[in-house]
Amino acid sequence: MDSFELNKIAGAVLASILVILGVATLTDFLYAPKEANPQAYAVAALEDGAAGPGAAVAEEEVPLATLLAAADPARGERLARQCAACHTFDEGGKAGIGPNLYKTVGGPHAHDPNFNYSTAMKETGGNWDFEALDAFIANPRAAVPGTIMSFAGMRRPEQRADLIVYLNTLGSNVPLPDAPAPREEEPAAEEAEPAE
Ligand code: HEC
Repeated sequence: MDSFELNKIAGAVLASILVILGVATLTDFLYAPKEANPQAYAVAALEDGAAGPGAAVAEEEVPLATLLAAADPARGERLARQCAACHTFDEGGKAGIGPNLYKTVGGPHAHDPNFNYSTAMKETGGNWDFEALDAFIANPRAAVPGTIMSFAGMRRPEQRADLIVYLNTLGSNVPLPDAPAPREEEPAAEEAEPAE
């Protein structure tokens, strides 16, 4: 066996190793464990909005009170279909994968006595006010670390506001916060006093 042949053999061995590594990586890539399937919901959330993925990321800090004032419970009811896989909304509705959500707004965390909440949710103090709901629906796991609600979160602030005013119609009817006056359009009526 001359060195040329040895080289060929070595080359062949190397090539097979590369192929094996390649296949292994590809397999990893194809069968990587998906973390539950929050993507499915994320996509649904995006599709519901009129704008594309770019718009969903745009961070414009509109105050929640302003968004709530402009929100539409009918749109919220439609958006709530994303939650219906796990939640019921009617008074006395059964708990499923998630608790019944009737009269959640303004009530305590872990408000459904028929549902076995996570310790994280049970130990979260305070009530479900608008801010808390907004944060939770935007990113459940960030708002209540350790929650067992496996929902990726609803990115668009307007959609969350629609959903929250819808939830508020379900036996709660908590008064909406006063929306701050828009900054620019406000005519400077008081300051425009005639000079002497
Ligand atoms: C995959 C199932 C699932 C989906 C989808 C889901 N939830 Fe949940 N939700 C849960 C579970 C489970 C809990 C209980 C969480 C815990 O105990 O940590 C929960 C808890 C909640 C709570 C707290 C209720 C309470 O009594 O404290 C609210 C509010 C809520 N979900 C709203 C929503 C909204 C709004 C949507 C749709 C945008 C939604 N959820 C989608 C499973 C889900």
